Amino acid sequence: FFEDEAPAEIRNAIRRAEKGEILSTSYPYSDRMPRKAYEKEMDALQIELVKMQSWVKQSGARVAILFEGRDAAGKGGTIKRFRENLNPRGARVIALAKPTDREAGQWYLQRYVSHLPSAGEIAFFDRSWYNRAVVEHVFDFCTPSEREHFFAQAPLFEQMLVDDGIILVKNWLNVGRAEQLRRFLDRESDPLKNWKLSKIDVDGLSRWNSYSQAIEETFERTHTTQAPWTVVRSDDKRRARLATIRHVLSRIDYDGKDARAVGTVDTTICGGPDIWNA
Ligand code: ADP
Ligand code: AMP
Ligand code: MLT
Repeated sequence: FFEDEAPAEIRNAIRRAEKGEILSTSYPYSDRMPRKAYEKEMDALQIELVKMQSWVKQSGARVAILFEGRDAAGKGGTIKRFRENLNPRGARVIALAKPTDREAGQWYLQRYVSHLPSAGEIAFFDRSWYNRAVVEHVFDFCTPSEREHFFAQAPLFEQMLVDDGIILVKNWLNVGRAEQLRRFLDRESDPLKNWKLSKIDVDGLSRWNSYSQAIEETFERTHTTQAPWTVVRSDDKRRARLATIRHVLSRIDYDGKDARAVGTVDTTICGGPDIWNA
């Protein structure tokens, strides 16, 4: 079903990507990060994540980390790297299916509330309440007034979470159009990744601009002082994973932090909504 997307151009892009080239021309690097360097940095960050979880358990902190972004932006893969060496008890992933009839009749935020972290827990949200702001809007799964309501409530809701002491981190993974298409094709042909390819992904291809507009509005209305967005340019998965982990670690004041291991985030690929690129 991707056949009509200018096959020659796509094949050419796939060939370039296979050689390590990054497809987005506005990306600050032309080539993907080499494996060796990535693994070295990732190994050091894994140790920091373990220390971070140990502090969370000891101190009874509550951490909620949101992962948002277009389909195939790398949300699931990034979460997987976060949790690789963590105790799964206390590092839950929340990836909710579309609302049931009963949930659809409730207050929109209600089903998310029950998944918020308790003391000592880190909750990884693979998609979140921001579904209403973007995917539900793009596919008309919600009405404009329901979305408007969401935009009015989300900042207040997040303010309440933060006031209550929850550490809330909102990550937006940003993937370019060519790279997204390449990942879809990869999912289509790889039996291990096939399950990730959904009808929404395919139908979403032709709605790129509609997504862009919805994302821009989401930043305008929900990038607040108490709960800011962090945008991570994710065309290179390795740099994106390192940057996201670094950013989260820098947001949490855990015991025994090794500032050198955490390092500093690469501000060319990780920053506020101003680095987002439609
Ligand atoms: P994912 O990208 O999370 O693997 P999909 O691409 O299939 O999943 O869907 C994207 C998001 O849209 C999911 O969070 C899914 O629950 C949501 N969604 C799909 N259908 C509906 C619907 N009819 N109403 C509300 N949300 C929906
Ligand atoms: P991944 O799911 O991150 O392992 O990457 C999916 C595909 O993208 C792989 O099959 C590789 O062809 C390509 N790829 C991703 N990142 C790199 C990289 N840093 N170097 C080389 N190829 C990569
Ligand atoms: C991703 O961005 O890769 C998602 O988490 C996986 C998906 O779209 O199913």
